Amino acid sequence: MMRKWIVALAMVMSCAPALAGGDAAAGKEKSTVCAACHGADGVSPVPNFPKLAGQHPDYIVRALKDYKSGDRKNPIMAGQVTNLSEQDMEDLAAYFSSQKGLYTKH
Ligand code: HEC
Repeated sequence: MMRKWIVALAMVMSCAPALAGGDAAAGKEKSTVCAACHGADGVSPVPNFPKLAGQHPDYIVRALKDYKSGDRKNPIMAGQVTNLSEQDMEDLAAYFSSQKGLYTKH
């Protein structure tokens, strides 16, 4: 299990430089639907919904892709990602990761 995770992580990291990169401003516009649950700035008001602010962009993109592919199963998020393109995911990740959240010091 652990081994599989490490391999997956290595794959994500080796792919990262090839990605076009997200646009935080575009991500902000696309994030209005997400705000209902995750909070406008990515700091969710309810513990049931994970905070996205300050999360690593690679992690966010990976999570969104996994919901879309079905590797990560969650009926709520599966419905959210069906219409997202890879660029949308990159943009959303750039926006949420640029918000102040999990870390108080940068
Ligand atoms: C209806 C409520 C709802 C909406 C709208 C919603 N989410 Fe979520 N989101 C959730 C829940 C619940 C989870 C936790 C699911 C799980 O346990 O895997 C989650 C998990 C996530 C995660 C994984 C977080 C982590 O720490 O692993 C990401 C990334 C995410 N959402 C991004 C988005 C984005 C981007 C949007 C907008 C396109 C969005 N969500 C819209 C409810 C929502």
